[in-house]
This record gives sequence, C-alpha cells and structure tokens, in this order.
Amino acid sequence: MKIFSGIRPTGELHIGNYLGAIKQWIELQEKNECIFCIVDLHAVTTPYKSGELQKNILELAVAYLAAGLKPEKCVFFIQSEVKEHAELAWLLGTFTPLGELYRMTQFKEKSKKHPEYINAGLLNYPLLMAADILLYQTEAVPVGLDQQQHVELTREVARRFNKKFGKVFVEPKSLLPNVGEKIMSLQNPKKKMSKTDHPQGCIGLFDTPEEIKKKIMSAVTDTGKQIRYDEKKKPGISNLLTIYSLFSEKTIKEIEKKFEGKGYAEFKKSLANLLIDSLAPFQRKKQEFLSREVYIKEILEQGKRKAQILAQTTMQEVKKKMGLS
Ligand code: AMP
Ligand code: TRP
Repeated sequence: MKIFSGIRPTGELHIGNYLGAIKQWIELQEKNECIFCIVDLHAVTTPYKSGELQKNILELAVAYLAAGLKPEKCVFFIQSEVKEHAELAWLLGTFTPLGELYRMTQFKEKSKKHPEYINAGLLNYPLLMAADILLYQTEAVPVGLDQQQHVELTREVARRFNKKFGKVFVEPKSLLPNVGEKIMSLQNPKKKMSKTDHPQGCIGLFDTPEEIKKKIMSAVTDTGKQIRYDEKKKPGISNLLTIYSLFSEKTIKEIEKKFEGKGYAEFKKSLANLLIDSLAPFQRKKQEFLSREVYIKEILEQGKRKAQILAQTTMQEVKKKMGLS
C-alpha cells in the first residue's frame, strides 16, 4: 500500500503524536511504500518564530529517526523543498467551494484560538494537506482522529478533480489507530493533548524522568478511588489507562485487575515508571542523532530527490488534464 503522512515542525513531539500517528508509521514502514513529511509550510499558518523554524525542522527529523523510522525503509523529506506541494494546493483551490473549507473543525478551532491571526493560509490548510497526499497516489493516511476530517475532504477533492478533468488521483482513506486515536490532556481530559496546551498536560517524547513523574503525579483524576475505565464518568483515569495500555501492551482489563483495591497514587507511580522506561530509548537515540547533523541532512536530501520525481510525475498529468500544458 502507498502511505503518506506528516507532522508540523512546531516544537517537541508528545506522546499523543506518537500513539496517534508515529507508532503506526513504524509498523507500516515494514511492508508498505511509505513517505513521511516534515510539513513546514503548514507550520507557518499559526504564529511562529521564523528564527526557530530551521532548528525545529532538524529536531523533527531527529525525532523521526529516534522514534524508529528507518531511512532505508521509507522516504522522508521537507515539504517546502518540493515545490509541487504549493503548486498543486493552488490548483485544488480553484475548484473547491469556500464553504467546504469554512466548515473544517480545525479552521474554526484555530481561528478561535488566534483571533488576531485568521489568515487565508489557515483556511487553505486542508488544500495543502490534500496536495501533500494526492501528489504521491497515496492509498492510506495514518493520522490521529483530529485529522480525519481533512482526509475526508481530500477524498472529496480527488473525486471532484477526477470527475471534472479526468482520472489522475487515487482517493485515499485515513488509518486511525484502534486505540490512541485521541490522547487527552493530563490537565483537562476533555481536551486533546497538544503542544500548545498547558505544558503540564502534555508529555514530550523526550521529557526527563523528573518531568514525566511530575506531570503524571499531578494529572487530573476523577472522584472516587477505583482504577476503572469509564470515559464518561472517569475521563481522567480512562485517559491514563489508555496510555498505560498502549505503552505496556496489556489490555485495559488486565491493568484494571492489576490495580484492583489500589489507589490512584500507586497507579500513577507505576504509569510514570512505565513511561520513563518506555521513553528512555528515544532519549538515548535522540542524543546519538543530534550529533550526526551531516547524516540527517543527507537523508533529507535523498528524500527530497525521491519525492520530487514522484511529485513531478503527478503534476505533469494534472497540468495536462487542466489544460495548463
Ligand atoms: P500535529 O502535531 O498537529 O502536526 O499532529 C501530528 C500527528 O499527530 C497527526 O496525525 C495528529 O492527528 C496526531 N495527534 C496530534 N495530537 C494527538 C492526540 N492528542 N492524540 C492522538 N493523535 C494526535
Ligand atoms: N495537518 C496535519 C496535522 O496537523 C499534518 C499534515 C500535513 C498531514 N499534511 C499532511 C498529515 C498529510 C497527513 C497527511 O497534524
């Protein structure tokens, strides 16, 4: 299967990115044709510091490698280095009704969060994402739940293009993890875990053991004492149980049994230790890759060249069908 996905270089990765997206990528790379992108053109649609972007891009490349992506098994590259992404996004915008973009949940949420920054790029964000996906004849897009709506819009855009101009695009589907499609904030279990959230609510993939312990021990829990999964009545504990289950590969039932008759503090202590042990290899690998900048730049350069060939092929077909060449 042809797979494409991407993450914005907007700061450190957190366990929501890992459980929602990257964990799937690592499994998928073994048996599929995978392309993973550092989507810097998406990162500039919300407030950012231009002086920090290059550093964030390199850090995300390091994080991809540290988390387990293997350059010999998949392609990874920087979005802005392949010009066809922006070019195709423009063309897709010429036949997409504005109403479809205005109703996107992420556009509404981000507009609310940054009322001083409601730019046309933010509205067009899903078209750029559609271009990312469609340029590579992608069949499946592994993402967290928040991106599912954008993948559905991508299908619609592909269908509309194929009908109007003739078949070029494959209609992709989203691949959501069975569990972990939406990891919630530790400080507010009704909101998704996010980099720009309350820092205490978000566990970074490279947090130190002290940070992990502090964040888990101060995670918001619910009334009562039982360690029991109940999303409605116990959203805090349920979120922690989900995280526990995904990192330990034990079922929720097994974990509930293990902590029967025990309190929240004991459960949290055990979860903190589990996370510290599970994330330690990522930290080690990150340190190792940080000192290999030349190697990482070489991987990105190779990725760019491979991506360019594929993207240019699709773009030529698109232009022909649209009468532009
Ligand atoms: P972003 O950091 O917004 O670029 O997201 C990168 C990937 O991580 C996307 O596939 C998201 O769907 C996924 N993701 C982000 N936050 C979460 C979360 N709290 N739970 C699960 N997946 C997430
Ligand atoms: N919009 C995605 C997010 O915020 C990132 C992204 C950009 C992406 N282009 C993509 C994800 C293409 C999958 C496929 O998380």
